[in-house]
Amino acid sequence: MRVVEVTAYGGPEVLVSARRPEPDPADAPGRVRVRLKAAAVNQADLKIRSGRLAAALGELAPPFVLGYDFAGVLADPAPGLPAGTRVAGFVPWVAEGTGTGTYAETILVDPAWLAPVPDEVDFTAAASLPLPALTAAQALDLLALPEGATLLVTGASGVVGRLAVQLAARSGLRVIALGDAADAHELRVLGAHGVVGRGAPDEVITGVLGFAPERVDGVLDTALIADPLLPAVKDGGVFVSASGERMPVAERDIRVDAVVGRPDAARLKELLELLGAGGLATRVADVLPLEEAAEAHRRVEAGHRPGRIVLMI
Ligand SMILES: NC(=O)c1ccc[n+]([C@@H]2O[C@H](COP(=O)([O-])OP(=O)(O)OC[C@H]3O[C@@H](n4cnc5c(N)ncnc54)[C@H](OP(=O)(O)O)[C@@H]3O)[C@@H](O)[C@H]2O)c1
Repeated sequence: MRVVEVTAYGGPEVLVSARRPEPDPADAPGRVRVRLKAAAVNQADLKIRSGRLAAALGELAPPFVLGYDFAGVLADPAPGLPAGTRVAGFVPWVAEGTGTGTYAETILVDPAWLAPVPDEVDFTAAASLPLPALTAAQALDLLALPEGATLLVTGASGVVGRLAVQLAARSGLRVIALGDAADAHELRVLGAHGVVGRGAPDEVITGVLGFAPERVDGVLDTALIADPLLPAVKDGGVFVSASGERMPVAERDIRVDAVVGRPDAARLKELLELLGAGGLATRVADVLPLEEAAEAHRRVEAGHRPGRIVLMI
């Protein structure tokens, strides 16, 4: 089968098309094959490819196959899902230590990692959802803010942030979104009470206090700004980072935590259904063939590109 491998740590050029044997379900009891139609490029893929996370990968080293998010068709039956079902999910391939992610034609998955894709949702949209949407939902769980509390979401123009704005607003939080000024109208339509444009830390704090003079109850920091945001947080508030590598130093009884997205089939099913029903919006920036994974990484690295880049397989 066709895959794209990381041949060595480095720039996008280390992503190389290769052929590997089809995975055999007999090698992994309980696992099922999915024939992929789409795989999304996450920021974590770039960090892993570059070698920035090499220390966290343990025994894993190139050559390996990147990729968390996927959408495709079940080749084997899974509990409650016959072969042929359209499914999406994410593969925790680093935690599993397998070195086989989703930049591949066929993958072996634990049925607990996937959910059915509603008819209204195409493969590219489905592949853009699992890791960022579950991370956003699980970050909101960690924040554990009561209805009516004020939440600052940074990186609101990005994929995780945009989903977090929508999910937080749906759960009754008053959301202040820190994102690109050009997205202000859209972020308000998606549920933000107020939008603050990107800027120097003091400008951002002034902007946030303009909407929340008492300061905010919580922060979900997907832009990884960390300490400069603390002056916007109430004493005893809560700060959740999208990365354990970028957490502020706690002060004034502010609880600081980091989210680590994990598969959750039931939650993913709800999120995909919400997407299908129009209650959640995702954004695909670009669609490229699998073989152009290196170009996809270059485009993500260039930044300022709202939405996910998805590889078609
Ligand atoms: N913990 C987990 O399990 C988990 C899961 C998924 C993602 N993540 C992490 O979460 C982060 C966001 O992921 P993503 O997929 O949403 O990435 P993304 O789509 O690239 O979004 C990040 C957004 O933050 C913006 N940004 C960067 N610096 C900023 C600043 N100083 N002020 C305001 N906005 C700023 C970026 O703008 P530009 O594009 O203009 O730079 C972009 O819009 C990444 O670090 C990713 O690795 C963690």
